[in-house]
Amino acid sequence: MKAVKIGICGFGTVGSGTFNVLNRNKQEICARAGCDITVEHIGARRDNANSDTTGVKVSRDIFDVVNDPEIDIVVELIGGYEVAKELVMQAIENGKHVVTANKALIAVHGNEIFAAAHKKGVSVLYEAAVAGGIPIIKALREGLAANRIEWLAGIINGTGNFILTEMRDKGRAFEDVLQEAQDLGYAEADPTFDVEGIDAAHKLVILASIAFGIPLQFEKAYTEGISKIAPQDVSYAEELGYRIKHLGIARRNGKGIEIRVHPTLIPEKRLIANVNGVMNAVLVKGDAVGPTLYYGAGAGSEPTASSVIADIVDIARTLSASPEHRVPHLAFHPDTLNNDPVLAIEEIETAYYLRLSAIDKPGVLSQVAQIISEAGISIEALIQKEPVAGQDHVQVILLTSRAQEKKIISALAAIEGLDSVDGKVTRIRVESLDG
Ligand code: HSE
Repeated sequence: MKAVKIGICGFGTVGSGTFNVLNRNKQEICARAGCDITVEHIGARRDNANSDTTGVKVSRDIFDVVNDPEIDIVVELIGGYEVAKELVMQAIENGKHVVTANKALIAVHGNEIFAAAHKKGVSVLYEAAVAGGIPIIKALREGLAANRIEWLAGIINGTGNFILTEMRDKGRAFEDVLQEAQDLGYAEADPTFDVEGIDAAHKLVILASIAFGIPLQFEKAYTEGISKIAPQDVSYAEELGYRIKHLGIARRNGKGIEIRVHPTLIPEKRLIANVNGVMNAVLVKGDAVGPTLYYGAGAGSEPTASSVIADIVDIARTLSASPEHRVPHLAFHPDTLNNDPVLAIEEIETAYYLRLSAIDKPGVLSQVAQIISEAGISIEALIQKEPVAGQDHVQVILLTSRAQEKKIISALAAIEGLDSVDGKVTRIRVESLDG
């Protein structure tokens, strides 16, 4: 079989990791692929001191790689939306297969990119775009192909998980930990993508599409960040037997599809509640297999390279197969994608953790309880903290039964309107994540 020639565009952390792992494990990788795989051309603005590229063609213009007639597979590792999209579309137009680690690109422009690739009979693979080194795309598209996926829930942003872990373990403040995550190089170029859940939403939208057979719909994902999580909520959650995690949740309920990223209380006994630091994990519930959990490094040079190279091997193995015999881009063949609606957040149903500051006087708790009960919601647990000396307010923490979000929103407005309640009520969704 003819050698497969790779062009790498972008030679930063992941590009150089991909180059190094391909060289180091070349013999085994080629034995798995059934052909020789060689990096032929690298496009990068500058060299990377972590890789010796002697003997490899290097261009400063990444489009030289895409337009190189020798290249079979273009590996896009530049990140971002616009130039990356132009690069990938040009590669497809030139009849090249593409491997990308770019979650933003796939989540936002994936439908258009896959349609172009389908027309041209080439593959665009993106395992590294979600949860770095964890082969979650492969698991969902292939390993779980027998199942009707019911829901999935993932810790899919390492920076956010690192921040929440440090807040819980060391009682550190949010800003302080974010600075450390940036210094360690985990965070996105714009760290609001990490802490406000945008990075996780990019990844979740991709997972939801391949789990439920729907087109990519980034604009319909609900996104809430972790920047407002207070250390006291982390410790009250702990008292109640929960951990706060920044979860991406996609669920098929009777009315449509939920796609939501938000801080979530989960029972501390769940394995996923114990995924700490920068690690990622995705829990997938299929109707046949039951719950399955995938865990590993969600970022980093060689973990991400591991996924990039798996995609290269997949393409190399199927180069001689006709396009209709390859795994479909979004797991389902394009003409079988469905129109199940993505639900607005007001329509979804979860349990809630509520924390409020109330005047310490008789009758206040019963007023709060009455509003909640009139909304048809029941209180599952309640803690009232002793007043701090010199203060007339006490902290009240409640766990509610499952309720529709819009009912909670109106109940909270009524509670916040009470004279005896001070300021806004803190509200964090709770998920049991049981099988
Ligand atoms: N900023 C991302 C994270 C990198 O923290 O998980 C991997 O996508």
